[in-house]
Amino acid sequence: MSVSTAPVVSLIRGDGIGPEISEAVLRMLDACGAQLSFEEVPAGEGALLSHHDPMPEVTLASIAKHKVALKGPLSTPKGGGFRSVNVALRQHFDLYANVRPALSFPGVPSRYSNVDIVTVRENTEDIYAGIEHFVGPGRSAAESIAVITRFGSERIVRYAFDYARKFGRKKVSIIHKANILKMSNGLFLEVAKQVAAEYPDIQHDDVIVDAACMKLVLTPERFDVIVTMNLFGDILSDLIAGLVGGLGVSPGANLGERAAIFEAVHGSAPDIAGQGIANPTALALAAELMLIHLGQLEPAARLRRGLLAGLADPRLRTKDLGGQANTKTFTDGVCAVMGK
Ligand SMILES: NC(=O)c1ccc[n+]([C@@H]2O[C@H](COP(=O)([O-])OP(=O)(O)OC[C@H]3O[C@@H](n4cnc5c(N)ncnc54)[C@H](O)[C@@H]3O)[C@@H](O)[C@H]2O)c1
Repeated sequence: MSVSTAPVVSLIRGDGIGPEISEAVLRMLDACGAQLSFEEVPAGEGALLSHHDPMPEVTLASIAKHKVALKGPLSTPKGGGFRSVNVALRQHFDLYANVRPALSFPGVPSRYSNVDIVTVRENTEDIYAGIEHFVGPGRSAAESIAVITRFGSERIVRYAFDYARKFGRKKVSIIHKANILKMSNGLFLEVAKQVAAEYPDIQHDDVIVDAACMKLVLTPERFDVIVTMNLFGDILSDLIAGLVGGLGVSPGANLGERAAIFEAVHGSAPDIAGQGIANPTALALAAELMLIHLGQLEPAARLRRGLLAGLADPRLRTKDLGGQANTKTFTDGVCAVMGK
């Protein structure tokens, strides 16, 4: 009897459109010949119902054991309610690097055809450290504390420059607001410049975040790799997703020494959940990043070819990309290109 050596991936199907796009991506992974087995685990709203906990111990144990997870989007209540499970998972496993590639795909309607930007966002510090409280009588004010450390800044900037080297990128742009936030952002910039000096083969510049927004919209081709802190990275990566056709085609990887979680940049899209019309491309591109992470380069390349062909075919395009196709039609088309 042969024993399977396929790596085990913790699978979180997610909330809202999560189950629909996860199903589609599982079909695509099968079609591209990926050698994987899955351990399905609960998280988010569904887990709150089934386990009375949006981030159950069984899920944490599975990710800790297998070290790789594919995650559908998870809903977070606005204002009150439980804390974001997405943020909590990143902090629990110290997934300090959030890597978000944005590429113009032929056939996908967008303002530009020449965007190829990878945002490397620090994922554990800054205003997302979760230090918030009300001050003053009667909740008359509230404050959130942004924590930036020398350690956290150094490892994310080093990650960005190492990434640039590994993937043949030419330039890293350091995005900050050190002119106003002189201590927190000043520390980030100071450390970033020190690290940049160790990589003479990679060009670098630093850009103030507001100017970066304008330049990204006017001349996105001037950017290659971006490295920035958590809040700016969160906002900028959605802006950049908008330059290549939107959240439907934007994947993300959360990486650290202890685990890697791959996901779509978009959320659970409750407005279209259950209708079978969600675009599974972002989660599929995240699955491609996962295959590369696992060293399964041929299935990754097949998956990308299938997705490129699917996106280029107007009959297969989903509504968010201006088409009429639904999740199943798109998935059938992509799998057919891969011979299934
Ligand atoms: N990483 C994550 O899991 C993650 C990220 C962002 C938001 N969220 C959560 O998701 C929930 C909804 O957030 P939101 O509405 O602000 O953002 P969203 O990304 O879910 O949706 C924004 C818009 O984009 C559309 N959209 C998103 N993904 C799509 C897809 N694959 N195909 C077609 N259309 C798509 C939606 O229909 C909606 O109109 C919230 O609870 C939020 O906290 C989770």
